[in-house]
Amino acid sequence: PKAGNIADCITVCAEVNPKAAIKRHEQGWVDELIDNMDALVERVREAQANDEVVSIAFIGNVVDVWETFYEKDIFIHLGSDQTSLHNPWSGGYYPVDISYDESNRLIREEPELFKVKVQDTLKRHADAVNKHTARGTYFFDYGNAFLLEASRAGGDVMAENGIDFKYPSYVQDILGPMCFDYGFGPFRWVCTSGKPEDLDRTDAIAAEVLSKIMAESPEEIQQQMQDNITWIKDAKQNKLVVGSQARILYADSQGRMEIAKAFNDAINRGEIGPVVLGRDHHDVSGTDSPFRETSNIYDGSRFTADMAIHNVIGDGFRGATWVSIHNGGGVGWGEVINGGFGMLLDGSESAERRLKSMLLFDVNNGIARRSWARNKEANFAIQREMARTPKLKVTLANQVDDDIIDKLTF
Ligand SMILES: NC(=O)c1ccc[n+]([C@@H]2O[C@H](COP(=O)([O-])OP(=O)(O)OC[C@H]3O[C@@H](n4cnc5c(N)ncnc54)[C@H](O)[C@@H]3O)[C@@H](O)[C@H]2O)c1
Repeated sequence: PKAGNIADCITVCAEVNPKAAIKRHEQGWVDELIDNMDALVERVREAQANDEVVSIAFIGNVVDVWETFYEKDIFIHLGSDQTSLHNPWSGGYYPVDISYDESNRLIREEPELFKVKVQDTLKRHADAVNKHTARGTYFFDYGNAFLLEASRAGGDVMAENGIDFKYPSYVQDILGPMCFDYGFGPFRWVCTSGKPEDLDRTDAIAAEVLSKIMAESPEEIQQQMQDNITWIKDAKQNKLVVGSQARILYADSQGRMEIAKAFNDAINRGEIGPVVLGRDHHDVSGTDSPFRETSNIYDGSRFTADMAIHNVIGDGFRGATWVSIHNGGGVGWGEVINGGFGMLLDGSESAERRLKSMLLFDVNNGIARRSWARNKEANFAIQREMARTPKLKVTLANQVDDDIIDKLTF
């Protein structure tokens, strides 16, 4: 919902657990709570009429919202689903027409019946989404295994070829080609001093570094650079911190390395305390996930799980303070391999050497893989990186004209 406010939208989310909804409201992630469907419809119509920017949480089942908005003719421009469908049978997804407490009882006492209710709801959910998209809604899979579980439940979500889903994952349509293939991903840092003023200083450093890089960036990544500069400049006023003094910012290989070096210099000068770098696993290189992070790799290799392992080993050798390799993040156990790292910057020369070596690999390992899959943007990015880093040699994929292959006769 906060992202919706940042992007100037009217946002409606449904949350079946009243405690979770109240908590998110108290923490400022959503503006208004509504627990009555008629009141929700009225409030949305009012917001539309007044061209408001507002985020509303409906306390109830999301399927009711999709169905009612269809009946009441409320047009949804952009829709997705963010229930925890990576965990469908133990409370990640609640069935419609059954109270929250009764659902929890079913999970404990009648798990098989609960499973049937979840699958029936998924079919209804998919039908409601299909009706909206027929009216023009853009629907995308958020990477929570909605389409995967809906398909397993027998929901109408498959494309005509019976292999792909009807709807793209947001990585296929948006994030892959616009961000991951160019190396932009969720670079993250934590100010270990716990001081908000250290975070302010790092925000300012990051904005300054990105503005300098943007002045010399190619046309292809101007928008990404501008979006991220706007993001980091507004980060404090958007109040995104709830615990550690931490920030996340989409940056490419050059951006991550230059920002990290500037942090290390500031630590060396005593301006800020030590900083730990990391990133989300939802990134260019760290994760093999055919239904999410690697879903826009179309050469058949998205069902392999080697990149995350290469990444973790490479990051370990190149100076990460710690690395992790795990399974299940986002789309569920058995569906994905995730790798991660942490790197402590203490202002030393050795930290500078390590950050340059590791961040270069951490991002470009994934760009190489994406360019081997012949993703146009990744091909552009890896050639740029090789021009900037003469010691980096990545084999470029041959472009094959399918026509020639089709016409070959033996
Ligand atoms: N694409 C990404 O970058 C990304 C990032 C984070 C999480 N995810 C995925 O998104 C999903 C959600 O993540 P989260 O951290 O918000 O999880 P969460 O469990 O904190 O939130 C999901 C909420 O959905 C509610 N819910 C379940 N069924 C519902 C229903 N039928 N109607 C209304 N509300 C319902 C639950 O009560 C819960 O509070 C997970 O599968 C996660 O893996 C994707």
